[in-house]
Amino acid sequence: MALVNTKEMFQKAYAGGYAIGAFNVNNMEIVQGITEAAKEENAPIILQVSAGARKYAKHEYLVKLVEAAIVDTDLPIALHLDHGADFEICKACIDGGFTSVMIDGSHLSFEENIALTKKVVEYAHAHGVVVEGELGRLAGVEDDVNVSSEDASYTRPEEVEEFVDRTGVDSLAIAIGTSHGAFKFKPGQKPQLRFDILEEIGQRLPNFPIVLHGASSVSKEYVDIINKYGGKLDDAIGIPEDMLRKAAGMAVCKINIDSDLRLAFTAGVREHLMNNPGHFDPRQFLSPARDYVKALVKHKIVNVLGCSGKAN
Ligand code: G3H
Ligand code: 13P
Ligand code: ZN
Repeated sequence: MALVNTKEMFQKAYAGGYAIGAFNVNNMEIVQGITEAAKEENAPIILQVSAGARKYAKHEYLVKLVEAAIVDTDLPIALHLDHGADFEICKACIDGGFTSVMIDGSHLSFEENIALTKKVVEYAHAHGVVVEGELGRLAGVEDDVNVSSEDASYTRPEEVEEFVDRTGVDSLAIAIGTSHGAFKFKPGQKPQLRFDILEEIGQRLPNFPIVLHGASSVSKEYVDIINKYGGKLDDAIGIPEDMLRKAAGMAVCKINIDSDLRLAFTAGVREHLMNNPGHFDPRQFLSPARDYVKALVKHKIVNVLGCSGKAN
């Protein structure tokens, strides 16, 4: 098996009423935890890399880790650039072996977003790489960009056909109330997603894969472990899993998860070190962190994404 792009994955997911998990990777243990879970569930998977991840771990290391995971699991795995900010980073990832890139022009005007996205699509398609665009603006923090909830805006369904037609994108990320990070709703606020917007977009773009960013559920299990062992994550609130499951049964084919991985990983490290204060071999605390990532991803595949058994 080689790296695949997401075209076939999304077609099957759309038809089958499930979604593919797009998990952010930053180091070997995270790659292993995710892909070992996918292997045991025979699930297709997208591993995605942010600009921050490329800065932290370096492009070449991440590509080699993902290639190693393919050898190890023999699964269809797509390697995706998450939140590409400009043409240059998309080009570097296309030239450097990625099979999918996101160009995030969501902060630009409609016309500027179209022009930038189209430029990336032309280059990507000439190299067999698929492109995710974005319309609408999520709240939250990604790399150095912090978008307040006042500056966030839902996707306008009346814009999606023109955007897809004029850019040629292969999938579209939309804003329906999800947000980045572990604090998605204010304390006491009832989590809500605009399924009416998703529904209308699905009708306007038949058979077209939609992407949900900011889709971590912020599982209480891991938050409680972190808090029990000296962390301070009060008021962390995510997207309820039943809502994500519902979205996966609609037009959503890709669900982005990073914060949940961070929480599971950190819970494993904290729990181990607090229970074993004499340990200082990184393998001792990275193993439970990897195990928690694996357990989390298995849970997502079975209970949220619905893609267990869909690898071939
Ligand atoms: O949406 C952003 C992802 O969680 C990546 O986060 O930019 O801190 O690597 P990062
Ligand atoms: P979370 O912060 O909800 O995990 O979102 C991740 C994401 O959208 C990556 O692009
Ligand atoms: Zn995102």
